[in-house]
Amino acid sequence: MSTVRFLTGITTSGTPHLGNYVGSIRPAVRASKTPGVESFYFLADYHALIKTEDPARIQRSTLEIAASWLAAGLDPSLVTFYRQSDIPEIPELCWFLTCVTGKGVLNRAHAYKASVDKNTAAGTDPDADVTAGLFMYPVLMGADILMFNAHKVPVGRDQIQHIEMARDMAASFNHRYGEHFVPPEAEIEASVATLPGLDGRKMSKSYDNTIPLFSSREQLKKLIAGIKTDSRAPGEPKDTEGSALFQIFQAFATEEETAALRQAYADGIAWGDAKNALLERIDKEIAPMRAAYEDYMAHPEKVEALLFAGADKARAIATPFMTRLRSAVGLRRLSASTQPQATKADKVTLASFKQYREKDGQFYFKLADADGQVLLQSKAFDSGKVAGQTIAQLQRDGAAALAALTDLLEPLDAAAHTAASAALVALAEAAAQAAREKAAKA
Ligand code: TRP
Repeated sequence: MSTVRFLTGITTSGTPHLGNYVGSIRPAVRASKTPGVESFYFLADYHALIKTEDPARIQRSTLEIAASWLAAGLDPSLVTFYRQSDIPEIPELCWFLTCVTGKGVLNRAHAYKASVDKNTAAGTDPDADVTAGLFMYPVLMGADILMFNAHKVPVGRDQIQHIEMARDMAASFNHRYGEHFVPPEAEIEASVATLPGLDGRKMSKSYDNTIPLFSSREQLKKLIAGIKTDSRAPGEPKDTEGSALFQIFQAFATEEETAALRQAYADGIAWGDAKNALLERIDKEIAPMRAAYEDYMAHPEKVEALLFAGADKARAIATPFMTRLRSAVGLRRLSASTQPQATKADKVTLASFKQYREKDGQFYFKLADADGQVLLQSKAFDSGKVAGQTIAQLQRDGAAALAALTDLLEPLDAAAHTAASAALVALAEAAAQAAREKAAKA
């Protein structure tokens, strides 16, 4: 089975609300349990520094978001769940990417442009109150994604441009320094509706119309009472179209439950009764998670331990990858060859492919490092020729082929994927260097 790597970040500047739950937490927790999917979720606390200058808020938000995801069923043993600031390789990679990103590209980033447009409209200096952090934010996001060579990045539509920028950064870096990065793709969940807030506009912290995910039942009741409705009296038929109450209900209910409420609207249910139905429906889903949430909130050290364990997992990938990238850009031992992949000594450490036939009559190949450790194992091929062609494709296209050929290979976990792609990149670089040497001699 092919492994697809998903990665997404959550900026730690707010308290999770029902919109976050329906739009991101719930689908992500479900997706993380899908076979063949490898998930990376992280608390984007470096990003939070762009949005807020309140240290206590960042600390609290980090705990609240982590506790919410865990209480909602995220299993840290199935995924890599970590805090961005525990991975020092990320800001380092951010600088490498900064150096291959055109300033003009960042000028066109939506978030930055929106601030500039606002200033221009107000007749002030275009860059008034714009930090370099806001300007650079797409590069930090690129580093988040490329650090782990994620294939798919589930994001809202407002973030698509950033994923495209990350692809460009990957391409620019690869063009200069060799195939190191896999180009990521945005994953837009079409079926996930955006939830309306109390006033009917999209539920969002910036509109101050949210319902916190883990409010108490009493708070929840009070907030739901404040959902905007029209003035139709009990007994009068009501419109489901444009009813925030109905849409929120639908996000939690089964089809039958939704159909029943639609009928009740047509039959003229009183708004008070409809609000009660919503309260009960939401509480049915949230109540079982509340105890776990409250326990995590009361024991931050438990959350911290899980995050540290997640950081260990993430750094098992990030640290060796960053070593390779440092060397690729020329930040390396002064005694190291300037063409690191080309020297005889280095060739000895290169991995190699072995093709073979099993008793079952099928053809296989594997990639093993110099110590004989298997980095990549193929599935069975009917034809030796096709197996050979697959090897050739891996040799030629390196890490990119790894993503394209996952169906023909035994699945790799995160660390094995990184080791295999590193070996393939080294092989491809060595082959390219050998070709250059041959050309130079001719
Ligand atoms: N910028 C994203 C947001 O505001 C959060 C984020 C930071 C992110 N780094 C990321 C999302 C990397 C996906 C991948 O929603």
